Amino acid sequence: MTNWKGIILAGGTGSRLFPLTIAVNKHLLPVYDKPMIYYPLCTLMLSGIRDIAIVSTPDAIPAIEQLLGDGKRWGLSFEYLIQDQPRGIADAFRVAEDFIGDANTGLILGDNIIHGSGLQDKLAGCLRRATGASIFGYEVSDPSAFGVVTLDGEGKAVSIVEKPKQSKSRLAVPGLYFFDAEAGRIAKGLKPSARGELEVTDVLGDYMRRNKLHVERFGRGTAWLDGGTPEALYEATQFVKVVEDRSGLKIACPEEIAWRLGYIDLSEFRELARKASTTAYNSYLQALAESES
Ligand code: DAU
Repeated sequence: MTNWKGIILAGGTGSRLFPLTIAVNKHLLPVYDKPMIYYPLCTLMLSGIRDIAIVSTPDAIPAIEQLLGDGKRWGLSFEYLIQDQPRGIADAFRVAEDFIGDANTGLILGDNIIHGSGLQDKLAGCLRRATGASIFGYEVSDPSAFGVVTLDGEGKAVSIVEKPKQSKSRLAVPGLYFFDAEAGRIAKGLKPSARGELEVTDVLGDYMRRNKLHVERFGRGTAWLDGGTPEALYEATQFVKVVEDRSGLKIACPEEIAWRLGYIDLSEFRELARKASTTAYNSYLQALAESES
């Protein structure tokens, strides 16, 4: 069995959200009824990864740790690692080198929200691949703000570019990546890009040239949002509220996922629900626990 570890990248300056993020780390801001970081955490949980490093700035780590703790109550294990400067997404492999060891890595950006039908199966498919790198492609109307992948007629990646000014492809690459143990070595060899960052797209380009990059599409049934700008954050909040109100189910509820996936048992889940106070979020947990009698 391949050993998988997870990284949530939750550093950076959040400058596109100033003044919201002058005193508060972006990943702690609310997306409707829970902190932003719950969403990428739940995506990793759904993939089956339980050993997770949370990478952030020296200022933000204490508050993130206060929120998430050691992960045990959700059947997880968290380690907190400092990135002292936002050197780029691929810098995660330097920061987390000892944590990763010789494991494969699921890396998710702390501001990415992914929700949709069949997601768990798609993620499980990535974890079944012991070698290579797996990413997703998501069609957007304006790809210039993202990593963009171009596929040939057979669905094979032929180029991957960070924030292209112009691109024929409209397939943006969401901030969720699965790598084999080669990624650390590749990241070590990178030079900063023209914008001064160690780019994840350069790591992916290395896999692509070796024919080891798997790209799967997120179709119409999947929503991919990020919370990087005031507009995006507002839209993400609206999306979560509308879907939750309509379905009566929560998006990205770590307690529920931990219980449904068997990371904790029913009595542990009941205990979490019991401890909870009188918010709507907690009433939801209590109703779930009670329905299981
Ligand atoms: O959202 C998907 C996009 O995310 C991808 O399509 C791009 O290829 C990828 O480069 C990234 O683009 P962004 O411009 O959105 O990246 P941003 O600098 O906003 O950082 C994304 C997250 O990673 C954010 O939550 C902060 C965190 N981060 C970023 C950097 C550069 C760190 O923790 N440390 C860093 O050094």
